[in-house]
Amino acid sequence: MADKSVRALAAELKNFLSAHEEEDFVSAAAQPAAAGFSRVTGQEDNTPAQPQMGPASPVLYQQVSPSRPAQHAAAVSKQPPQDTLTVVFGQAAQQHPQPVTVEKPQPVVSAPVCPPDQPPVGGTMTTEEKTAALAELAATIKNCSRCPLGDTRLNAVPGEGNVNARLMFVGEGPGYDEDRQGRPFVGRAGQLLDKMIAAMGLKREEVFIANIAKCHPMVDPQHPEKHGNDRAPNAQEIACCRKYLEKQISIILPEVVVALGGVSAKALIADAKSLGALRGKFYTLSLDNVSLPRPVKILATFHPAALLRNPGWKKDAWADLQMVMAHMGLKAPSK
Ligand code: URA
Repeated sequence: MADKSVRALAAELKNFLSAHEEEDFVSAAAQPAAAGFSRVTGQEDNTPAQPQMGPASPVLYQQVSPSRPAQHAAAVSKQPPQDTLTVVFGQAAQQHPQPVTVEKPQPVVSAPVCPPDQPPVGGTMTTEEKTAALAELAATIKNCSRCPLGDTRLNAVPGEGNVNARLMFVGEGPGYDEDRQGRPFVGRAGQLLDKMIAAMGLKREEVFIANIAKCHPMVDPQHPEKHGNDRAPNAQEIACCRKYLEKQISIILPEVVVALGGVSAKALIADAKSLGALRGKFYTLSLDNVSLPRPVKILATFHPAALLRNPGWKKDAWADLQMVMAHMGLKAPSK
């Protein structure tokens, strides 16, 4: 009789242990951390955490210790290796000095939990993956109408250059010529930028050139054919476009970003009063929508258009670029 109740008790214990184990795994699997990855940063807006551009999305994931399964594994590993579980409990222990042996509950094998697709970031992407990701992003930008500039542009200007560039230049936004060609810095300011790049011992094709705003901000949007119709992007336009530039930076993952002019410097470094307060110093780039896998330096200098208007500033701009060259180990070409 006593034997029977011990058996019943043992059977109950067995059921309880199996049920508990199963629950444990089911609830652990339902948690994102159990999959081995957790989201590092949030999106700027309330869009779902789901990457929007497949493998190129810069939404980052980092490996975390899957605490619940780990605890579980630790608990299991403490059990003796035999196929039976020896228990001695309460009254039964007094009545039966011999330990009761019951069959060890079989470990519950939960269905494998697939981690979410880990979007590659610049540091881990191949050249082909970067090229495809930037092309996909450029296509998104060309269809973008997140702000009113999308209605008045002739062409969006996503940016161009080497997908593995060590150095990236970021201007404020396309002007007249860029709007017509769909390429950044192709007007007079662009010609000066080309000279600045050459003075650093680099070719335009070796760097990546982009803008904060991807569409032409116009003073008079009714007349896109007018010259002298350029203006800086406003705060709303910058906010709408920011995620595109941030994705570009996270894909390319340059060593240094040079912010050209006050609009770019204030958008990417700090909303200081003037470019003068920011230029000529290295900062560590911190993005709103993306965590970069390694630090990227940023330095602000004069916009080439400002240098065309104020050639006396070129000396200071050259000093800024020499800081970048020293940081990157670049040598000016011999004349
Ligand atoms: N000025 C900018 O800021 N960007 C360009 O692409 C051209 C001129």
